[in-house]
Amino acid sequence: MSLTTVHTVADLRATVAAWRAEGLRVALVPTMGALHDGHISLTKLAREHADRVIVSIFVNPTQFGPTEDFSAYPRTLPDDQKLLDAAGVALCFAPSVDEMYPEGFATKVSVDGAMTNVLCGAARPGHFDGVAQIVTKLLLQSLPDCAIFGQKDYQQLMVIRRFCDDLNIPVDIIGAKILREKDGLAMSSRNRYLSVTERTIAPSLNRVLAEITAKAATGAELGPLLAKGRQDILAAGFDPIDYLEVRDALTLELVGQTVTKPARIFVAAHLGKARLIDNHAITPANIAG
Ligand code: PAF
Repeated sequence: MSLTTVHTVADLRATVAAWRAEGLRVALVPTMGALHDGHISLTKLAREHADRVIVSIFVNPTQFGPTEDFSAYPRTLPDDQKLLDAAGVALCFAPSVDEMYPEGFATKVSVDGAMTNVLCGAARPGHFDGVAQIVTKLLLQSLPDCAIFGQKDYQQLMVIRRFCDDLNIPVDIIGAKILREKDGLAMSSRNRYLSVTERTIAPSLNRVLAEITAKAATGAELGPLLAKGRQDILAAGFDPIDYLEVRDALTLELVGQTVTKPARIFVAAHLGKARLIDNHAITPANIAG
């Protein structure tokens, strides 16, 4: 089966309806394109859960702030299509901005509260409203059995789970583990903004998270660990750091002095033109299986 690309909601729906008539299970992998091995790993996971995989490619303007990289965001549809074809993806949905936001569009989807005001939500006001709006649309347009999202955007994954539960959207949201380069750098479309020198510095973010994670899991105090982590990240060449924080893995509330429940350490830091994010799970030694 080779890849088909459609650009309209009508064509997307017609394809999915034909699959449904055959009794096939459908998975959606929403992306903004500029695909890399991390995305391909999401499509592989999707294939384990469904007979047909749709990958949407849409650089969503409503999730970018006015000073962010919306117009510069890499758009590489022909290359993306080749990768998807080779990965056995059935359908690429690549709509235009007008198809997704036609004239008169006026509806917002907004997840309130602590989960969206912290971490990337604090540094990027309105970002998660844009994500919630577009993911709601993509889910309702394609009505898949399941949808796959990478844990690299862990906060995004939790926000998506929240509004799918709240709005009773009948889809299974599956989180996929972070895919890393050999030197530990989390794969990201934004890694292509890094210069050769910056690319050698970038993996230090993962190293710092790993060091803090190992110590925090055995009950070390977070204050000194995070202070040293910040110093190490700045010394490596990142500047500024948007956040380096340990939060509850489910509620995203800040963890106090030590980790006693499943938690996550989150970082966002700037290196040259790139803003890199990463996170690690912290499982306290007393509950690790
Ligand atoms: O993670 C992304 O690439 C985007 O935020 C998503 C989920 C495709 C929505 O535009």
